[in-house]
Amino acid sequence: MSFRIQPAAPARPNRCQLFGPGSRPAIFEKMAGSAADVINLDLEDSVAPSDKDSARANVIEAIGNVDWGNKTLSVRINGLDSPYWYRDVVDLLENASERLDQIMIPKVGNASDVYAVDALVTSIEAAKGRKKKIAFEVIIESAAGIAHVEEIAASSPRLEAMSLGAADFAASMGMQTTGIGGTQENYYMHHAGKNYWSDPWHWAQSAIVAACRTHGVMPVDGPFGDFSDDEGFRAQARRSATLGMVGKWAIHPKQVALSNEVFTPSEEAVTEAREILAAMEEAKAKGEGATVYKGRLVDIASIKQAEVIVRQSEMIAG
Ligand code: COA
Ligand code: MG
Repeated sequence: MSFRIQPAAPARPNRCQLFGPGSRPAIFEKMAGSAADVINLDLEDSVAPSDKDSARANVIEAIGNVDWGNKTLSVRINGLDSPYWYRDVVDLLENASERLDQIMIPKVGNASDVYAVDALVTSIEAAKGRKKKIAFEVIIESAAGIAHVEEIAASSPRLEAMSLGAADFAASMGMQTTGIGGTQENYYMHHAGKNYWSDPWHWAQSAIVAACRTHGVMPVDGPFGDFSDDEGFRAQARRSATLGMVGKWAIHPKQVALSNEVFTPSEEAVTEAREILAAMEEAKAKGEGATVYKGRLVDIASIKQAEVIVRQSEMIAG
């Protein structure tokens, strides 16, 4: 470990973020009744330009009037390249109830984008005497965003989560695909007459995880567009969990259970982690730094790996 200790990410469940258009208030109660840990009411790309004003009003009303339980309640504002975002921030901060937890900033390209929103939010919070400090989440979904991912992760103490937005990311990178996340048909190795599919999102995901873990931010996998493909969603989510991400978006309610399933450590995984910790306790008592568990090496690093799983499981249960 470097002299600088790695900060912990926020200790709240973020296994699934369920999105819904702010222009479709009929689904807000259904979103609130879902099993998602986080709700993202959208003012950005699922809302047509002609509906921006009414969507903003719907969302502000629903923040105060719908019972959101203990979910993290977040609103995705419009991008800083649009004429809408300042009005989103001003109206939300001036008029939404204190139930609002978080603002999601899309298409962030550098730390200054976050700084600009932070300055506006901080000023309105002070002017209005708001007690709850609004948290931020950002979406990395452009070439600039991934090129500046580390400064973005370090950009504000408000920042709690960072997602990869596969569709806009692919477009910005000039990737030849219209798929939103998941396996891409043309991204494969060929050997001895067979194709082996590889993961075109792997590099961006790993870059996001590293930047987030360095700065105590939660890395999250974004949308999986084909909501008829449960196994495709599971496979994408499992790869993300394996790489260190804590959760994934749901763009349809049927994806919530899939996401919760993958990002909740299984009973077997937790039992095994506890057994590894017990084995290492025994080793320590004998003055040993390494021992054997089920025929394989476990050592002091294994304690930290096992603790990740146990901590995650206890945090979700609590
Ligand atoms: N959250 C909660 N409930 C939702 C929902 C959502 N995001 N989307 C649909 N539902 C509800 C429907 O109202 C319907 O309820 P009912 O059984 O009581 O009638 C049920 O779930 C099944 O919906 P379905 O008919 O399969 O979907 P749809 O055609 O109504 O909507 C989408 C499909 C994809 C348009 C819609 O899910 C959606 O808008 N998703 C979010 C898009 C978004 O926010 N994108 C931005 C981030 S990428
Ligand atoms: Mg996007």
